Amino acid sequence: MHVHTPVLLSETLEILSPKSGDRILDITLGLGGHSELLLQTAGETGSLIALDADTENIALAEKKLEKFGTRVKIIHANFSELPGCLPEDRRQFDVILADLGLSSPHIDDPTRGFTFRADAPLDMRFDRTSGMTAALLIASLDEITLLSIFQGLGELPNARRFTDAIVARRKDDPIRTSGDLVETANFIYGYKAPRYLPQIFQALRIAVNHEQEALSRFLTVLPTLLAPGGRSAVISYHSLEDGPVKTAFRELCADQKHPFTGSITTKSGFEMLSKKGVIPTAREIRENPRSRSARLRAIRKREEYTFLRTA
Ligand SMILES: C[S@@+](CC[C@H](N)C(=O)[O-])C[C@H]1O[C@@H](n2cnc3c(N)ncnc32)[C@H](O)[C@@H]1O
Repeated sequence: MHVHTPVLLSETLEILSPKSGDRILDITLGLGGHSELLLQTAGETGSLIALDADTENIALAEKKLEKFGTRVKIIHANFSELPGCLPEDRRQFDVILADLGLSSPHIDDPTRGFTFRADAPLDMRFDRTSGMTAALLIASLDEITLLSIFQGLGELPNARRFTDAIVARRKDDPIRTSGDLVETANFIYGYKAPRYLPQIFQALRIAVNHEQEALSRFLTVLPTLLAPGGRSAVISYHSLEDGPVKTAFRELCADQKHPFTGSITTKSGFEMLSKKGVIPTAREIRENPRSRSARLRAIRKREEYTFLRTA
């Protein structure tokens, strides 16, 4: 049975506070835990559009949300395709949620290749209907690009030696499975390998799914997707996700100031709903260890937005 315990659920609900009739957009549906609660709170007249790149998660979420009938529309799409993947007449929302990264079924199903705890083909795609698998990426990327993945996305010590080992090995013995990759890590890092496996696997996953590009695209279109008065929250799980969210939200919420007097010349059309971000309680981390690195940030588009920033 596939389950995914939604992270920071009550905090998300509180900060997004859906009102009766709200139009909700969940760009990372997963198994629909957040979506279900948000839509329930928006009452009989609320509606939801939800995206996910993963058809298997969509199938599970569909079952959970079928009770809402036509108030729910689920779209198989990557959120990097926003806003084009949305119906033309539904491009403004009162509530927008992004709960980034992977879901528990990705990890729990060893055949997906996300975990180093089982030996399986190295796939790692959220969307198994398109794109290159991690095995193909490792086989085809040049050395510099591979190094930038392990160094830049994985912050791996001795990334060059690890990359060299991959490049040397793949000449006559392709890395096809998670076990092959673990073996290469053992070869380079010895008894310290278990410490670095999470970084290695996470870096590859981010690269395979173009996660940074997708997040950056979402953050660019988010302001136009929010209706005046609308709230948006992003839950991220590591600094490469949280960094861009923090920066984008700070920029959006920054008032324009006079260069000499420092007085506010144009008030920002957005306000921050979470100064430092919201993190899970010790209890949540105990009950759901996967929540331990989560951080939720949220903004609100002011009602008077259209009057303040018409240019
Ligand atoms: C952390 S889970 C979401 C869990 C969900 N909030 C719940 O309560 O069940 C993230 C989901 O986002 C999907 N996902 C990740 N990146 C995506 C992208 N760029 N476009 C669409 N879906 C994506 C994954 O397939 C996964 O199902």
